[in-house]
Amino acid sequence: MNLEQDFDATIARDQRIEPRDWMPDGYRKTMIRQVAQHAHSEIIGMQPEGDWITRAPSLRRKAILLAKVQDEAGHGLYLYSAAETLGADRDDLTERLIGGRQKYSSIFNYPTLTFADVGVIGWLVDGAAICNQVPLCRSSYGPYARAMIRICKEESFHQRQGYELLMTMMSGTQAQRDMVQDATDRWWWPSLMMFGPPDAQSTNTAQSMVWKIKRHTNDELRQRFVDMSVPQAEKLGVTLPDPDLKWNAERGHYDFGEIDWAHFKEVVSGNGPCNEIRLTRRRKAHEGGQWVRDAAAAHAAKQQRKEAV
Ligand code: 3HC
Repeated sequence: MNLEQDFDATIARDQRIEPRDWMPDGYRKTMIRQVAQHAHSEIIGMQPEGDWITRAPSLRRKAILLAKVQDEAGHGLYLYSAAETLGADRDDLTERLIGGRQKYSSIFNYPTLTFADVGVIGWLVDGAAICNQVPLCRSSYGPYARAMIRICKEESFHQRQGYELLMTMMSGTQAQRDMVQDATDRWWWPSLMMFGPPDAQSTNTAQSMVWKIKRHTNDELRQRFVDMSVPQAEKLGVTLPDPDLKWNAERGHYDFGEIDWAHFKEVVSGNGPCNEIRLTRRRKAHEGGQWVRDAAAAHAAKQQRKEAV
């Protein structure tokens, strides 16, 4: 059996591809693409909620939010490390992000206008992340799949804390209930866009499914998310902003309205409400952290010289 046949047989047996295994260049390239963009999304994703850490309404809410934002940083680190096992260079990936040559999730290009946004991001955005990422625990690339197991456990906590925050607000004043409804109206459609373009316009899905990088298509996971969210919205007492949302007994799923893909394309190409501020902050943080990287490198070199004596 040659290397390619061995690779194909490993995928066919649902076994994992590990860093030292031979893999087609295309597999390595698309894995680096997906893992790097996932990592970028986690790091940029710290910003929308991070804006509320200093303004959380109680010490408890502040502690929960701090833990969540810190988790996202950790998710980014696991994923950059997974990308490095494929031969990617972390500095290069950061430069690609900052230079707009690699993507991060569209969902993080919207403002967080009230504290209800923190709850709705936990409920809807982390909920969508769970729908999208639990299947990735079975992705064919070992380091990525293993990173996903821990990330999904933490995302589940994030989703629950967001929903609990919203349940608290919904049992509060009318003004608080209105804040939750307003945030739901603003985050619902962008959450559906997190799953990517419709399958018919997805340039990577077909090959990613053959290589078992992806286990379900964008539309399949989007539908799963809608079906999961509708009963949660009813329990919460909010209305999802889609008049076409209706249970279809024949399909056994909820039908939902048309997504504004022109808007999605605009946001992905950099013209969303917050794209510029997100990348400017990331660039400033990277530049501002240069002295830390220099100091760490100098310390490591000093340690090496000591050990060499
Ligand atoms: N935002 C930005 N770009 C997107 C996108 C989105 N929501 N959805 C798709 N795209 C891009 C793709 O990256 C691709 O561009 P590229 O070829 O230059 O990379 C193009 O649109 C076509 O999309 P495809 O469907 O062909 O791309 P994929 O097969 O990669 O599917 C995906 C897109 C479903 C996002 C897939 O990459 C994936 O599952 N990635 C892993 C999960 C992830 O990255 N989630 C992002 C959210 S981070 C998060 O959940 C943090 C949590 O704390 C909330």
